[in-house]
Amino acid sequence: MNKILTSILVLFIISTTGFGIYKAAASIDKEFIMKDKKVLIAYYSYSGNTKSVAKKIQSLTGADLFEIKPLKEYSKNYNEVVSLAQIEKQNNIKPELVNNGDVSNYDVIFIGTPVWWYTMASPVRTFLSNNNFDGKIIMPFCTHGGGGASSTYIDMKKLAPKAKFTDGYTSYENSAKIEDIKNWIKSANI
Ligand SMILES: Cc1cc2nc3c(=O)[nH]c(=O)nc-3n(C[C@H](O)[C@H](O)[C@H](O)COP(=O)(O)O)c2cc1C
Repeated sequence: MNKILTSILVLFIISTTGFGIYKAAASIDKEFIMKDKKVLIAYYSYSGNTKSVAKKIQSLTGADLFEIKPLKEYSKNYNEVVSLAQIEKQNNIKPELVNNGDVSNYDVIFIGTPVWWYTMASPVRTFLSNNNFDGKIIMPFCTHGGGGASSTYIDMKKLAPKAKFTDGYTSYENSAKIEDIKNWIKSANI
């Protein structure tokens, strides 16, 4: 009797843990796992829109996620951030980060930013400047408030001239659709 109960218990454990593994694997679309490539998603987000795109990319690829964080946090007051960001852009300021990250072990790096004054947000300027992207593949993405990507990708390329950039993925505020992100990743053909 005990043997029967033990067998049932073992079968139960195998089926439940097995199902757990199946579920985790199923949530990451195999089509988007870049075989033989180490992939990182690095992003900065002030109000959450770019973070949400980064998380969607992660749900598709299972890649590592790195949040770019300025050492001195920006004010919660939107207008103050808008004013400060303009000064930072005009003076090409690269605010210090909590952690510069380390891209050396990755082949493909998704880099996400909100559009700030027609270009990347200042912390992303620092991230690009403080890492070596030579020979890496960069998949840039940005979110904006109605003005589109503007000079964002052009300016990012200037800070990583020896990286290979794919087309960027651009979305308005928090409107990014998982299907569109899928198509973008597919079209990069990596
Ligand atoms: C400092 C600052 C500057 C901005 N400049 C622009 C801009 O030039 N063009 C634009 O379309 N949106 C601009 N926006 C709007 C943001 O790009 C947009 O809300 C974005 O989705 C925010 O992303 P986040 O939630 O990840 O921070 C700006 C927002 C801020 C805070």
